[in-house]
Amino acid sequence: MLEIFSKWKANLTSADLPDQAEEGKLPQHIAIIMDGNGRWAKQKGLPRIAGHREGMKVVTKIVRVASNMGIEVLTLYAFSTENWKRPKKEVDYLLGLPERYLKAELPKLIENNVQVRLIGTTDHLPDHTLRAVEKAVKDTESNTGMILNFALNYGSRYEMLEAVKSIGRLIEEGKLTADSLTEETIHAHLMTSQLNDPDLLIRTSGEIRLSNFMLWQLAYSEFWFTDVLWPDFKEQDFVEAIAVYQKRKRRYGGV
Ligand code: FPP
Repeated sequence: MLEIFSKWKANLTSADLPDQAEEGKLPQHIAIIMDGNGRWAKQKGLPRIAGHREGMKVVTKIVRVASNMGIEVLTLYAFSTENWKRPKKEVDYLLGLPERYLKAELPKLIENNVQVRLIGTTDHLPDHTLRAVEKAVKDTESNTGMILNFALNYGSRYEMLEAVKSIGRLIEEGKLTADSLTEETIHAHLMTSQLNDPDLLIRTSGEIRLSNFMLWQLAYSEFWFTDVLWPDFKEQDFVEAIAVYQKRKRRYGGV
């Protein structure tokens, strides 16, 4: 743990947090796979949705702390294209969370200059979910602070497939040639075309896998895994992940 963070380990207060932006070594883009809600609920003898409800409270805390610290982009994996396989009751609950969260938090997000963004496909998303998120995106589009990017109904392979299709169409129309394609062409056709790649990926709950999340974008990201279940994840854990990141040497394939 770096010295600058040690004072936070014991008693973290949000008033302490803005100082960290001055270090200049913060990851600009942090992506989080928020895992372990179901196990947290099971351990407590509660229904799985109780874990997701608690998980939403953690989203509130981590968004606030990230924005206060000066993180530029926070991407949260809220619902994957594979999550439709869950029981309908759980899917409905999960897809209701963005609306619940934004109902409570949008005024705070606006006050804190946060920009809400969305990656994922809108296919099959309930209207009420889409309306709530699109309203938040619109209401915050002129903000200049942290980008809070919800990956909702998101799957990386689907994203890449769609990128390949749209590039293929441009080739068919004669607007591009196969030989002219570059990595930037692919980047420009991904849902994250407006964003830098994540510097740091956090996954909670002890699972060590990517689960179809930002496979292209995470090529050179630093990974930090913790056994902590998402509903138990604290601001201190977030700070610790950043501290570990700051000690890593990123070489991007060089020496
Ligand atoms: C994975 O845990 C978690 C999810 C599929 C959903 C994550 C959603 C939240 C944390 C809340 C989102 C909040 C907003 C505001 C959008 P799991 O259910 O797979 O847990 P398990 O592996 O222990 O079963």
